Amino acid sequence: MIESRTIEVPSNGGAQALIAVHTCGTGPLAVLLHGFPLDHRMWRDVMNGPLAARRTLCAIDLRGHGHSTGSDDVFTMELLADDVAAVMRAMSEGPVDVCGLSMGGYVAFALHARHPDLVRSLVLTNTRAAADTDQQRAARDAGIETATTKGCTAVADGMLPKLLAATATNEHRARMREMIEQAPVATVVADQRGLQQRPDRRPELPHFQKPTLVLVGDQDTITPPAEAEQMAAAIPGAKLTVITGTGHMSPLEDPAQWSAAVAKFWS
Ligand code: MLT
Repeated sequence: MIESRTIEVPSNGGAQALIAVHTCGTGPLAVLLHGFPLDHRMWRDVMNGPLAARRTLCAIDLRGHGHSTGSDDVFTMELLADDVAAVMRAMSEGPVDVCGLSMGGYVAFALHARHPDLVRSLVLTNTRAAADTDQQRAARDAGIETATTKGCTAVADGMLPKLLAATATNEHRARMREMIEQAPVATVVADQRGLQQRPDRRPELPHFQKPTLVLVGDQDTITPPAEAEQMAAAIPGAKLTVITGTGHMSPLEDPAQWSAAVAKFWS
C-alpha cells in the first residue's frame, strides 16, 4: 500500500514548500524523482512491483508538481535538489539510493554535486548529463508560449508523440496525458526556465564515486541511447542497461523489465 504525506522544507533560496512523498515497501530508503512536468504517478507500477521487497520506495512530488505546493521561483535543478535533500534528511539517517528520470535525473546530478553525503547510489534513467543547446533553449521558450497561451492540453499534444515508444498502449498514453494536463501552467513555466539554466554535468562524470546504473529505452528519442552510452562510459564503473521496446518513459512503459534491471543493481 502506498502511503502519502507532506514534509515542510526550508526556503533553500526559494520560498518554503510542502513536499508530498508517497512511500511503500521495506528496507533502506530509495527516492524516485519524476520527469517534466509529471509527478509521483509515473512510478505507480514500479512501486507496486518487486522493488518494494528490497527498498522503501519514496516517490517525491517535486516542488509545484503532484500534491506538493508550488512557489514563484524558477525551479532550478539546484532548488529542486535542495528540497529533495531536506526530504531525505527528514526520512533517513544515512545515505539513500537515488533514482531520477530525465528532469529527475538532472535533479539527481544536482543532489550528487551539492549533497554527496546523502547519496548511496544513483540510477540515472532516460536522462542526459549535457546542458541544453541553444536550439533546445529556444524550444523551451516556445513550450512556455504554448503553455501560457493555450494551456497544458496543448503541452500534452506537443509532448506525447515524443515521449513513448510507437508500441505504447492507449492506457500509457492516457496516463501520461492526464499527468501533463493536470500540471499547473506556472509549474511548466518554472520547470522550463530551470531546465534552460541547468549546467553541463559531463566534466563531473569521471569523478563520480558512487555506484551508478544508467538506463535508457532503445526507442528514447528525447535522451537517446547514444548519449546514455557516452554518459555510462564516462562514469567510473557505471553499468548501462537498455530497456527494449520502450521510449523516454521506460519505467512506466515496461515496469517489469525496468525493475529487473534496478533489482540486479540494488542486490
Ligand atoms: C523530461 O522528461 O523530464 C524532459 O524531457 C526533460 C527535458 O526536457 O530535458
